[in-house]
Amino acid sequence: MSYWPANDPSGKAVAGRTAYLILHNTSEVVTPDAAGREILRFPKGAIVFREGRVLEVGPAADLFRHHPDARPLNANGKLVTPGLVDCHTHMIFGGHRAREFQMKLAGASYAEIAARGGGIRSTVRATAAVKEEVLEKTLANRLERWRANGCTTVEVKSGYGLIAAREVRLLELMSGAAIRVPVRVHRTALVLHALPDEFEGRREQYVAEVRDQLVPEIHRRGMASSVDVFCDPVGFTVDECRGVLERAVELGFSVKLHAEQTARCGGARLAAELGARSADHLESATDEDWRDLAEAGTVGVLLPAAALTLRLPLPEAGRVRASGARFAIATDFNPGTAPAQSLMECAALAGRLCGFNADELLLSVTWNAARALGAEAEVGHLNPGAWGDAVQWECETLEELPYWMPAVRPDTVFMRGADLALPAVERRVWP
Ligand code: NIG
Ligand code: FE
Repeated sequence: MSYWPANDPSGKAVAGRTAYLILHNTSEVVTPDAAGREILRFPKGAIVFREGRVLEVGPAADLFRHHPDARPLNANGKLVTPGLVDCHTHMIFGGHRAREFQMKLAGASYAEIAARGGGIRSTVRATAAVKEEVLEKTLANRLERWRANGCTTVEVKSGYGLIAAREVRLLELMSGAAIRVPVRVHRTALVLHALPDEFEGRREQYVAEVRDQLVPEIHRRGMASSVDVFCDPVGFTVDECRGVLERAVELGFSVKLHAEQTARCGGARLAAELGARSADHLESATDEDWRDLAEAGTVGVLLPAAALTLRLPLPEAGRVRASGARFAIATDFNPGTAPAQSLMECAALAGRLCGFNADELLLSVTWNAARALGAEAEVGHLNPGAWGDAVQWECETLEELPYWMPAVRPDTVFMRGADLALPAVERRVWP
């Protein structure tokens, strides 16, 4: 796991400037409770940040009494939430696939496009053609854009290298980008994404090398906290995924799967079996799959942008509720299936497509998403002890967040209790 480092010089400066602060005059402060069960609402509430963490949250009058020495900061009557957590992105890539998108709209399937030289392997080629420093800078710019859109924690997957040396390089570039931007970056090694051209006809050997060489090397070098695989008829089989993920679990990685996306093939059950942190996509998952996830405590991650792009259905809210599983929503930002750059926009879409309410949607992009990363003790809520990562929005009520389209914009984003300047969101970061 890599964070904006505490010993970074800019981190120290921030801590010194904002050691003890009370954010007040909000319209309301809303946050998941510490167990992530419900949304707590504090009308005209306040938050006290100290040394980068939340010290207290509650009614402003009480907090002013408890903290007479805290420096007041006026929220100007705006809504304050925890910083959002985007728990599934593929942000490190070169090029784009806009032409392929047109093919999709004309009726070509994901599998057909892949067979015609498009798909993941075309982005692998495009990524290899971009200079490393440009890849790193582009990723840093994207992370800045995510922060400008309210995300203070972002998961980034590798996966457009495929060959061991290139995957390792992508993970290294991620660390380089992560220390340039005040966003918490969780690195995931997506190790089975597509069969590389170099291994055409040698599938078994590829899977074995990933399991026996790549995953252990990433572990030895501490380059990622999680390992992910694409379990799908267009990707890898349940057995291929199981072998690699079991090795990852043995080494102490947390694991996650792209599961039940283009067809149901047993990825959700495998996720439950392995105690995966999350199973992501799930467009083809059954009620039984959702129940398995609930029993295992595995978060089901919905990716509305990918579902819309591939014109796949998302589950009805009632089905997810009945299963008892936790669900998160993420952008899945990638050039093939989800060129989606705003997590709140994705939540607004899922609200409409599935029927989730504002409380559920906030949980899905905060506490539940943090849980999908194993980070719920630290981020995804504003209870005492959590990092002081918060967003002051350009609106007044929680219900407005999934309501406006395009999504409501952050007015101020706090990292470690510090009000950092937002980057110019117009900066050109696409493609
Ligand atoms: O999450 N499904 C696999 N991986 C990505 C798509 C990657 C791509 O098409 O480039 C996804 O949808
Ligand atoms: Fe994905």
